Amino acid sequence: MNQLDIITTHDQAQAVSLAGQTVVVIDILRATSVMVAALNNGAAGIIPVADITSARLLKNDSRLICGERNATRIEGFDHGNSPLEFTREHIAGKEIVMTTTNGTHAVMAASKAHEVLIGAFANLKSLAGYLLQKGGQISLLCSGTQGAFSLDDFLFAGALSHILIGSRQFRPSDLAKLASFYWDHARSDIHGAMNACKHYQYLASLGYQHDLDYCFTLGGSDLVPRLIFDSGNQLFIK
Ligand code: MLT
Repeated sequence: MNQLDIITTHDQAQAVSLAGQTVVVIDILRATSVMVAALNNGAAGIIPVADITSARLLKNDSRLICGERNATRIEGFDHGNSPLEFTREHIAGKEIVMTTTNGTHAVMAASKAHEVLIGAFANLKSLAGYLLQKGGQISLLCSGTQGAFSLDDFLFAGALSHILIGSRQFRPSDLAKLASFYWDHARSDIHGAMNACKHYQYLASLGYQHDLDYCFTLGGSDLVPRLIFDSGNQLFIK
């Protein structure tokens, strides 16, 4: 039978075998929400990199460099890590080189899996539809924050688990069942529930309320972005 499990941080993903699995990378606040927004608005692709120097080296005329440290745009970068910056006007046709504190590391940690997909509330439905069709062994990789478990990612893992478990086509781990219960409990007041999330509170303290609203809004994208290796063996999300 199809299996469903959750990995709670990107550090934990380094320690487990992902061979043969489909892994959904989740960093709701805010890296994977940005990735889905950028691709939905016509970005040619996203190149996830670990550090600021590598991002600067990859910059050229058809590429933008984007990302954050401590949730703030990196000096000299074209964009920060707010999904609202990634409008069609700014990014259509461009490749985006991206480095963030947790989300891009989670993508790299997942790269040894058979298939790597990107999850955000914007594409929850299309992602769930794809996974229901595909089946197999699925792990929902929550990026976490600074190596620690983070409730924003767990909420999304719960929303996705709820759909997959409801189909009765998956055997869920105990953690996937817990996430599904959590989503069911929290879904009527998502922002109330997220007030308990440390990174949510941090972003709110920096004045990113519009990002918080955006990142927890369901729908808006039919995409199922996936990680590929291009001809130069460069990681690419398309
Ligand atoms: C991350 O990758 O840690 C985040 O997306 C941080 C943020 O910008 O909110």
